[in-house]
Order: sequence, then C-alpha cells, then structure tokens
Amino acid sequence: MSTAPYAQRRAKLASLLGPKGLAIVPSAPEQQRNRDSDFLYRHDSYFYYLSGFTEPRSWLLIGGDGTTTLFCQPKDLEREIWDGYRLGPTAAVAHLGVDAAYPVTELDARLPELLDGRDAVWYPFATHKALETRIDGWLGSLRARVRYGALCPGQQRDLCGLLDEMRLVKDSHEQAIMRRAAEISAGAHVRAMRLSARMLRDGQEVREYHLDAELLHEFRRHGSQYPAYGSIVAAGANACVLHYRADAGLVRDGELVLIDAACELDGYASDITRTFPANGKFSGPQRALYELVLASQQAAIVATRAGARFTDPHEATVKVLAQGLLDLGLLDRNKVGGLEDVIEKRAYFQFYMHRTGHWLGMDVHDCGGYIEPSEVGTVSERKDPLSGEIIKDRPSRILQPGVVLTIEPGLYVRAAEGVPTQFHDIGIRIEDDAIVTQTGCELISRGVPVTVAEIEALMRE
Ligand code: GLY
Ligand code: MN
Ligand code: MN
Repeated sequence: MSTAPYAQRRAKLASLLGPKGLAIVPSAPEQQRNRDSDFLYRHDSYFYYLSGFTEPRSWLLIGGDGTTTLFCQPKDLEREIWDGYRLGPTAAVAHLGVDAAYPVTELDARLPELLDGRDAVWYPFATHKALETRIDGWLGSLRARVRYGALCPGQQRDLCGLLDEMRLVKDSHEQAIMRRAAEISAGAHVRAMRLSARMLRDGQEVREYHLDAELLHEFRRHGSQYPAYGSIVAAGANACVLHYRADAGLVRDGELVLIDAACELDGYASDITRTFPANGKFSGPQRALYELVLASQQAAIVATRAGARFTDPHEATVKVLAQGLLDLGLLDRNKVGGLEDVIEKRAYFQFYMHRTGHWLGMDVHDCGGYIEPSEVGTVSERKDPLSGEIIKDRPSRILQPGVVLTIEPGLYVRAAEGVPTQFHDIGIRIEDDAIVTQTGCELISRGVPVTVAEIEALMRE
C-alpha cells in the first residue's frame, strides 16, 4: 500500500488545525447483529481517508505540527486465531507511515498527556456515540494536574467541517478508484439486463432476487468488498417505491425493472440506476416516459461543469421533465397552467419528488456542504408552494474540478385520478456518476448502455 496519499491528507489537515491543535479521529465501532454475530465491519470514512487502515478499535491523532500517532489493536495470537490478522503497533509505523503507534489499551493512559499544552482539540461532532464523554474524561484527567503545570485546551472544535471540505474534491488517487468502482458496477447492470431477457426468453420464472444475485456476483468477482448501499431491484410497480429493496417480486414479461445498485471498492462508492424492459423491448408508453427521463438527464449533464452551481443540473432536469409531463398529458394544462406555473408551483412533484443528485465519494451520499462557503451570509426566504413552509435559501455550491456527483432524474407514476392509464405503475430512474471537469463532466458509469436502442440491442444478444 502506498502511504503517500494518506500522508499528504494528514499534512494538509495539520496545516488547518493551527500549530497547537490536536485532531482525534476514531474508527467505527463494530456493530452487533445478534448474539455473538456482528454485522460485516465497515471502517469509518474519515479515519480511512487519513490512514488507509481498516482495522476496528483504532484511533488516529494528528497534531498541528503534523505528528501522527496511531492507537490500534495489539498483536494477540489467540484473538488472531479467531478473528484474523492484526497489524499491531510495531509494524504500523512503517506500514502506515505514522510517527508513533501504541496499543489501543494504552489510549486512556496516554491521551491526557497528548492533550497537554494544546490550544484546541478537534474531533468529529455528533458522529460517534459517547465520543464527547470520552474526551471529557481525558480533559478531566488533564485538568486534575493543572497544579502540577498541565495546560488544558481552551477550545473544542468540529473536525467534520475541515474534513468534509477536503473530501469534497477528489484527488487523482480517489478518482482512479471511483472510475474502477463505476466500471465494475456498470458491468453488473449489463449482466442483470442480459439475465432478465434470457430467462424470460427461456420461459423461466424470474424474481428480483435472481437479478440481485447477478449483481452481487459481478461486484465480488472483481474484488469489490460489498455493495455501496442496499441494492434496489424493483420490478413493475415496485419501482414507484423509492427505497424499495431487492426482494422476491416477480419480474413479468412486458414490465420494466428498475435497478439502483452499485459496489463499494477500496472504500469508495459508486451509484448507478438503470431501468429496462424485463423482456428487452420497451412498450410505447414505457418508451415515451423513458425518453423523457433520458432527455432530462442529458440536460442535467450539459449543466454540470466547473463554475456551475450544484442546483443547476436539478433545475435543467425539472424544466425538461415539466414540459414533458405537460406534453404527455400527465399534467393537465387546464388545471396546472403552463411550464412556468408547473415549475413555480412544483406541480411536477407528484411524479418527481427527489433531487437530481448528491455528492458521491467514500459515502454514497458523501459529505460536503451544498451551500457555497463564500456566500453563506446571503440568505433569502420563500414560501414553499406545496407545504406552505418558509424555506431559507442560501446560494448553492459552485462546482469545481474533482467534485464527484450523481445525476439521477426519474419519474414515478402511481395510479391516480386524471393520470392516463397507459402510464400507471411505471417508475423510471436513470443515474450516472460524474466527475466535474473544467469544461464539463466525465461520466464514469457509462459502461452500461443508457439509450433505448442500446439497451434493446444488448438484451437481444
Ligand atoms: N442509491 C442511493 C441514491 O441513489 O441516492
Ligand atoms: Mn444516488
Ligand atoms: Mn442510486
């Protein structure tokens, strides 16, 4: 493992802490599933970002002078026989490029001393249960020694703000992993599409879990550690349930399947959705809605470039979708008015109720503020036309090269009065992952077809 990207990030963070600051970054706790079975362990993203280390029960301390101290599980042959290899503090120094490493059993004894003489202690606020209590304990121990010359930090500060800003822009090391994660995920979607058409052609019963298994197989075959989030494999009307999970639903000839699934690779998520006809051929109404969502996605892609605002792709999407809903008769002009009225009154919300994207990175809904930091003081208020709530608006983040986001418009048509029956129970989302560049964006998830012609051709093979 190259330690360079992690060392660079620690050095950058150190330069932001102030010379006498100390950052404390715990890894994630293990989570019990039931009795003596745990959920599969997933490291903490901040901790991994700064260390490249995935063992539980580890802590990273970074001083404003750049000195890094690791606390990790001590070597223990008996535990390693049951739970697996541990790096241990002695090997950790060279392997991770830290300055010092100690067994985590010494954390409570050493922390007060490491806090002595600091002016600020930084840690991620409201992310780790009982972390504040733990830090209070160390500060309390230090304060008990003030008569003997100990100097307590006067400030506690939230580390999330600094790390979120750093993580928002992906360096070349991160971009390379994300391209590969998206490539693997795209291949998995291709396999699921092909399997669906083939099984139906062969007269076999297809269930959502058959397609889910295909996705998982492809993720793991290429070394992905796990899905980046709970896979959605939604056949027919299930696609109108936004957070539906892959279940046992029957995949019927003539219906659409919506798959929102992607892998995590070496700590980085991908996030892809495709919607395709189970049998490989779109019907007229399915095609009309699909082409509309695709056109709205294309408008969002064009709006995604350095210098644009985060909300620009969403606004571009909404314009296309709103016009299409009027043209297809899903919205009645006599009731909702023209394009501007539909947008202003959010009349499209019945069919499109989520945003067009989010930051993507180590976490599928990655960290990073959506407000432009240089304009936080600019606040305007408006009344939401649907809820009547007063909403505070601040200028949306200006995109810059290296930021990664999803572009994921959709339409979800539930049966309702006034909605043309040929569109009932159709749910469509198309989601791609984009790295923002100076002049536009690089779509890293297009290893799976997206146009009607390409999908139909693939599924005929
Ligand atoms: N798969 C989660 C999302 O699309 O936001
Ligand atoms: Mn997404
Ligand atoms: Mn998704």
